[in-house]
Amino acid sequence: MMTPAAASDLRRYNAATAHLEPPLAVLDLAAMRANAESMARRAAGKPIRVASKSVRCRAVLSRVLAMDGFRGIMAYTLPEALWLSGSGLSDDILVAYPTTDAGALGQLAGDAAAAAAITVMVDCAEHLDLIEKVIAGAAEPSPVRVCIDIDTSFITLGGRIRVGARRSPVRTPADAAALARDIVSRPGLRLAGLMAYEGQIAGVGDNPAGRPLYGRAIRYMQRKSGAELAIRRAAIVAAVRSVAPLEFVNGGGTGSVEKTTTEAAVTEIGAGSGLYQPGLFDSYRGFSGRPAALFALPVVRRPGRGVVTALGGGYLASGAGDAARLPRPFLPAGLRLDKDEGAGEVQTPLLGGAADGLRIGDRVWLRHAKAGELCERFGELHLVDGDTIAATVPTYRGEGKAFL
Ligand SMILES: Cc1ncc(COP(=O)(O)O)c(C=O)c1O
Repeated sequence: MMTPAAASDLRRYNAATAHLEPPLAVLDLAAMRANAESMARRAAGKPIRVASKSVRCRAVLSRVLAMDGFRGIMAYTLPEALWLSGSGLSDDILVAYPTTDAGALGQLAGDAAAAAAITVMVDCAEHLDLIEKVIAGAAEPSPVRVCIDIDTSFITLGGRIRVGARRSPVRTPADAAALARDIVSRPGLRLAGLMAYEGQIAGVGDNPAGRPLYGRAIRYMQRKSGAELAIRRAAIVAAVRSVAPLEFVNGGGTGSVEKTTTEAAVTEIGAGSGLYQPGLFDSYRGFSGRPAALFALPVVRRPGRGVVTALGGGYLASGAGDAARLPRPFLPAGLRLDKDEGAGEVQTPLLGGAADGLRIGDRVWLRHAKAGELCERFGELHLVDGDTIAATVPTYRGEGKAFL
C-alpha cells in the first residue's frame, strides 16, 4: 500500500512529465531545497562547500550556491574546476583529489583569475614537484594554491584493523608540518588550506536496514574513529598553522555534517549527496532527507502476474560491487528488483503486487544509489516544482562534459 504522500508524489511526477518520453531524470526542487536547508541547519553556522561530483549540473550548483549556508565548490577534477571558474560559477573552487594533468596545471598557472579561484590537492612532494615543473615552463605564471589532504582512516589493534579510504599518506602532525614547510619553501606555490574527509563516518550509514548488529558495529567504529580523528585533526591543524596561515580546514560529508561541525579546528564542511538524497543515504540516524533526484523508465512488457519489465535502468553506482549499488524502485511503492537480473543494461524486471496495476506505456520511478552519477546517464534534469516542470537544465553530460 502506498502512503497518501507517496501516491501524491507519484501523481505529481507523472503529471509533470506526461508530455515527455522516458527514460528521463527529474529533480524535485522542493525536496532538494528542504534537503539543503536541513544540511545547512546541521552545519550550525559553518559553510558547506558543495561537492560537485554529487550534483554534476551547473544550473543546480548555481541554485545551491545561492542558498544560505553554502559557499564554494568542491570539484573533482582540475579541467572541471577550470570550466566552472571560467563560466563564472564560483571564485572559490577546491579540487578535492590530486591531479597529474600537466596541461590543466599549465592552464591554471597561466590564468591569473583561475589561479586565484582554484586550489589543487596535494599529499606528497611528487605532487609539488609536478606543479613546480609546469610553472617553470609557463610564461608569467601565477602562484598555484594548494591544499594538504590528510589521511583520516581509523587504525587500531597495532595496525591489524584499518577502516577508511586509501587516499593520503599524510597522517601525523609531523607529516603535515613537513609537507607544509616544503610547500612554503617553493615560491610558485601557496598553501591555502587543509582537508581531512572522514569517509568511514560521513559515507557509511550507521543504521543499515534489517541489520541491527552490523549497525551497532558501525556505530562503535564511528564513535572510536571520530574521537581519534578529532584529537588528531586539531593537532595537525595546529602544527600546520605554526608553519603558515590557513584559509580553510575542510572536513566531513553528508553523513557527518552535524558531527564534523562541532570540531573547532574545522572551518567548513564538504558535502553534496544530501541534496539529491540517493538510496545509499537512507540509513543514517542523524538525518533523513527527501528523495529529490529520480529517474523514470517506461513499462514495456508484462511477462506475467506480479511483474512488469521496464526499458533500461542498469545505472549502477561506483564502489564495492555489492547489491547496495543497484538503483532502488521508488514509485509506485511495492516494486522490487529481481535478485537474478538486478537492474539490466536494456531491461529491468520489477516484481511485486504493484506491478499488476501498471500497463504498457506507464512509467515507474527509481532512485540511483549515489547522487551525481545519475547525471552521467541523462543529458538533462527536469526541475519539478509541484506538478509542473519549472525548467529543464543540462547535466554535465548534457553539456558534453565527462570529467571522469
Ligand atoms: C573529499 C570529500 N569530501 C566530502 C565528500 C562528501 O560528499 P557527499 O556529501 O556527496 O557524500 C566526499 C565524498 O566522497 C569527498 O571525497
